[in-house]
Amino acid sequence: MAHQVLDDAQAVKDFMTLSPVRRLKVMVVGGAGYVGTVTSVGLACLGHHVVAVDMDGERIRALRSGSAPYFEDGLDALLRRCLDGGTLRFTTSLGDVRHVPDIVFITVGTPSRSGGEIDLSQIVAVAEDLVQVINGYTVLVVKSTVPVGTIDLIASVLSRHKVEGRDFDIVVNPEFLREGHGLTDFFYPDRVVLGGTSARARLLVRELYEPIIARRVAWNGTARPGDEPVPVVETDFRSALMTKYAANAFLAVRVSFINEIAGLCERFGADVRDVVRSLGYDPRLGSGYLNPGLGFGGPCLEKDLQALIKVAEQFQYDPKMLRATLERNDRQISELVRKIKQMTGHFLYRRIVAVWGLAFKADTDDVRNSMSLRLIRELESEGAVVQAYDPMAVEGARTAHQGPRYVDDPYAAVDGAEVLVVATEWPEFGALDFDEVKRRMLRPCVVDGRNALDRQRLLDLGFQYVGIGTA
Ligand code: UDX
Repeated sequence: MAHQVLDDAQAVKDFMTLSPVRRLKVMVVGGAGYVGTVTSVGLACLGHHVVAVDMDGERIRALRSGSAPYFEDGLDALLRRCLDGGTLRFTTSLGDVRHVPDIVFITVGTPSRSGGEIDLSQIVAVAEDLVQVINGYTVLVVKSTVPVGTIDLIASVLSRHKVEGRDFDIVVNPEFLREGHGLTDFFYPDRVVLGGTSARARLLVRELYEPIIARRVAWNGTARPGDEPVPVVETDFRSALMTKYAANAFLAVRVSFINEIAGLCERFGADVRDVVRSLGYDPRLGSGYLNPGLGFGGPCLEKDLQALIKVAEQFQYDPKMLRATLERNDRQISELVRKIKQMTGHFLYRRIVAVWGLAFKADTDDVRNSMSLRLIRELESEGAVVQAYDPMAVEGARTAHQGPRYVDDPYAAVDGAEVLVVATEWPEFGALDFDEVKRRMLRPCVVDGRNALDRQRLLDLGFQYVGIGTA
């Protein structure tokens, strides 16, 4: 079953923006990564001249041919539009870059070491390479999420050969891109954060983003320009970096918080969905990031939380709330396993469990730090046989973990199963034929790990149903 995606014509139709005041020359280092690609395509769509550099030759080849190495709705169509329009180029070598950039974005990965602290070797290597590129005044924009102190490190590497303030300045401009909604978040940000000491550098970055800040971009009908300009927060490096960590930590806190409340709701017979609905009306609370589920996964939330905890420890500061947020997230998988075992009479050995959803969330093919895969590993350690399906992530999941029987059809996944677990909230799951699902299962039992299905409909069809935070 194909996931509904934007068709190419629709994705480029409507992309309208008045040209920027000045077309700037931009280089994006780490331009084949997720943030790098979205940033490169986004800026090229605004009319700037963009060169994306990345040492991953395979990804660069794919991007040059107009196909991004990961799924993001509308990205391929805009990528091809920019390639055809000549505003975007991809290369594996800094030496291949003919123009001297006005602005260099650093979007390289910041993997964690085993202890949770961030590995800065890629960032330092980039800073060393950039010495050759800077010729005249260049602004370095740090997009990667890095601990405070990294900016001083980059500046000190560059300052061996160049003069800060004359040859270069640094601006910290954190990204808030959600996978699956990256382009929408790029063109319609809630705010732009610019951290740095140089007013000249911040002004140049503002100029770069001018069509976005002035809301002159109209794309795809996913969002429409508002009347007020996008708020721009100008601040120092440290506050800009901390904003990104704080934003992700807060999102993680909200998810762990609602999972905690959901656990309480189950125990005393309340319905978390109604609780969230009521919380949402209170503007002090809002309803965002309050969907209970398997816990937060993906490449950022957990990693950033761990990095923040590590930094806190280095300052002998005990970040109790952050630790509790992580611990609560880990416990959510045990909560799920407990529910699944309740349905199978507490034994999972050789029982077939069907899992729908492998991506760390819907609308992406990304399985990095997927809670679904964590759950599957737990089930397998109890002896269960897992049959797994996802509309987009089967291939990635198979590479990440070979245990389950992967299938490319949701009905095949439930063949002979005693429990069906919904682990990712793909909207199409709700539209499947549950009579057929019931016919194929050994016993019609559903653990809805995302409250994604219509509980009453399933009960009416004769399923045993357990959600999250509902009695
Ligand atoms: C996140 C941030 O949202 C983004 O601003 C940042 O730049 C990168 O990290 P992303 O990793 O794409 O983005 O995922 P996000 O949509 O935030 O979801 C993170 C995890 O939380 C997912 O596993 C999701 O399923 C889970 N989640 C989210 C919930 O369980 N409940 C919610 O209500 C919201």
